[in-house]
Amino acid sequence: MTILEAHYDPALAEEIRALAKARNAVILAHNYERPEIQDVADFVGDSLGLSREAAKTEADVIVFCGVHFMAETAAILSPQKTVLLPDLAAGCSLASTIDAEQLRAWKAQHPGAVVVAYVNTTAEVKAESDYCCTSGNAVEVVNAIPADKEILFLPDMFLGAHVRRESRRENIHVWLGECHVHAGIDPEHISNMRAQHPGAEFLIHPECGCATPVVEAISAGAIDADNVHILSTEGMINRPSQTDQDTFIVATEIGILHRLRRANPTKHFIAANDRAQCAYMKVTTLPKVRDALLHMQHRITVPDEIAARARISIERMVSIGGKSGVSPFGPEDPGE
Ligand code: 13P
Ligand code: SF4
Repeated sequence: MTILEAHYDPALAEEIRALAKARNAVILAHNYERPEIQDVADFVGDSLGLSREAAKTEADVIVFCGVHFMAETAAILSPQKTVLLPDLAAGCSLASTIDAEQLRAWKAQHPGAVVVAYVNTTAEVKAESDYCCTSGNAVEVVNAIPADKEILFLPDMFLGAHVRRESRRENIHVWLGECHVHAGIDPEHISNMRAQHPGAEFLIHPECGCATPVVEAISAGAIDADNVHILSTEGMINRPSQTDQDTFIVATEIGILHRLRRANPTKHFIAANDRAQCAYMKVTTLPKVRDALLHMQHRITVPDEIAARARISIERMVSIGGKSGVSPFGPEDPGE
């Protein structure tokens, strides 16, 4: 059985829902989580949408089915709530590419520069940053900064290139980090898919290694611009209902295919690279979510001094617009 085939266990899902009710807990799940985790969650969404949900929830407990930096962000936004991460092994290779000391050294080389940190960073890095952003609002965040200000953008170089292109700013320095999953979706995958499915629409996450070459191919007239959309994961979820197009090549982590197919049963979704799987997102399983609620584990906390500084940059991110969101896609949904 592959990871994307659901490990449904209705009795366990029911037990989790009952525990969540008893604890007054909300279960948040990222679009890359296993299908059965998405189905048991109260809300499924992208980083920005889940941060917004964590900030406004009235629940006492947030069970974060995502990766560590996402749970940390929730803990910073809702310090009075208990935030649980079902498995502490849920890290992020991109967030690991820069630590606070490296950022301080980079800032020292560019005094006066404004630091924009992608949400895929540790709380310590966010505390050293002026603005946080996600793929859903990175361009809007950069556009909100006066044009004459030098910007340090971190840690993803492909998202940084996308932001530089969209904002038409030259004064953005980009940290050379990458996500191993998205960097592995390269131009060759895209050209193979174009050959196999001519006319299909491309949905591309800006962290992908293929994003810049595809935009260059559009400029060179080799690809029709109307058939390419560079989007956050939630932007991808929303796109199919806005077009008559029925076949989509999806360039991001393959966990998103579950929601896309469920929401659009008559349309076809093909992974640009069917090996693009984030092992960190897949460590969360139903038994671990049950244990998280049962034993109130593993609590994610951020020291007050770091949280206070990181909160400023995160609140700027949450308040600046962006094409993001979350959907109630769990137990309330009647399902397929
Ligand atoms: P989104 O913010 O688009 O959901 O992306 C999060 C992420 O980790 C991408 O790899
Ligand atoms: Fe991090 Fe990449 Fe996994 Fe997203 S897909 S959580 S960026 S390792």
